Amino acid sequence: KLIVSDLDVKDKKVLVRVDFNVPIKDGVIGDDNRIVAALPTIKYIIENGGKAILLSHLGRVKSDADKKELTLKPVADRLSEVLQKPVTFVPENEGKEVEAAISKMNDGDVVVLENTRFQDIDNSFGKRESKNDPALGEYWASLGDMYVNDAFGTAHRSHASNVGIAEAMKKAGKPAAAGYLMEKEIRFLGDAVANPVHPFVTILGGAKVSDKIDVITNLIPKSDHILIGGGMAYTFLAAKGQEIGKSLFEPDKVDLAKKLLKDAAGKIVLPVDNLAATEFSNDAARKVVEGNIPENMMGLDIGPKTIANFKEILKDAKTVVWNGPMGAFEMPNFAEGTLEVGKSLAELSGATTIIGGGDSTAAAKQLGIAPQITHISTGGGASLQYLEGKELPGIACISDK
Ligand code: 3PG
Repeated sequence: KLIVSDLDVKDKKVLVRVDFNVPIKDGVIGDDNRIVAALPTIKYIIENGGKAILLSHLGRVKSDADKKELTLKPVADRLSEVLQKPVTFVPENEGKEVEAAISKMNDGDVVVLENTRFQDIDNSFGKRESKNDPALGEYWASLGDMYVNDAFGTAHRSHASNVGIAEAMKKAGKPAAAGYLMEKEIRFLGDAVANPVHPFVTILGGAKVSDKIDVITNLIPKSDHILIGGGMAYTFLAAKGQEIGKSLFEPDKVDLAKKLLKDAAGKIVLPVDNLAATEFSNDAARKVVEGNIPENMMGLDIGPKTIANFKEILKDAKTVVWNGPMGAFEMPNFAEGTLEVGKSLAELSGATTIIGGGDSTAAAKQLGIAPQITHISTGGGASLQYLEGKELPGIACISDK
């Protein structure tokens, strides 16, 4: 694939699709990770004399009333802080004001256009951005000389601001390249997982088996071990005939869990003990239970023997992918399994460690281990679909070298 460093950006207007879909409450940004992660691409463009015109969505825009909450203005302000230079915010993404702001740009300038999903309301096409109105993609493409897609978090969507622009650019004989963040995500979630250095250990957690079926199916042949914790583990334990009490359970997934266990031929490692409680509350009475969970209790974390088993397997790993917490880690009394798994990843030396998904990323931050992890993905849905082995439209649309 073509990447941003292949482009001669000098004096060029470079349209950049970033994923600045960050958590914002009352105008305050909760986590600016996605903004910081886009800096290498933006800096490459402006330090090499290009003009960077940034496009992003924020949230899901359903009505006019959402516009106040979902403006990218606070994001443009934060970008200016982290870039340590002025950033021009344009409160539109189509029309005269946009074109005037772009025509005024000097080399090295940065412009942020308003939330691309404002195009999802008030027009005859319907959701112009989210349904990839070709005219919108063409319009945006017409604003620049080249296009860079650095929005890995949005790569599972086929929208006007990623796929639409790329297609229009290519049609006009102009380049559509991947940004540095996109390239890094592909290197770790794609290449490192497709051709892992062994032993390769996959750790999966989270509430539901149904969310992870395709990931498990894709990774069974590649992994040496698949460690399963979190709510989804109980459906697997039930499939093995164990009593799981009041634990999370997907009855309609039991047969599938049986099949996956069979296909995995011993690679799937399940909890041998659980920290169980009488109710889903941090203050509930709790105890470590080996094997069957009593009828009035639910498993809310993996137990100490399981933690020890997982650590024993992890200590020799050369590639690790982790997605999903090992228990209800948002409650401190049930966070130990998740935190211990995070710690073991941080302690591994000489291994490639990859974390995807919001909850495991939050756990890594809580522990302060982010610097010791090789790659923490900026993608939620996109990283899951990539681990499922799917082709993502936001990557497929990028020009070949
Ligand atoms: C994400 O946060 O997963 C991406 O920014 C995509 O957002 P969406 O699910 O609203 O399309």
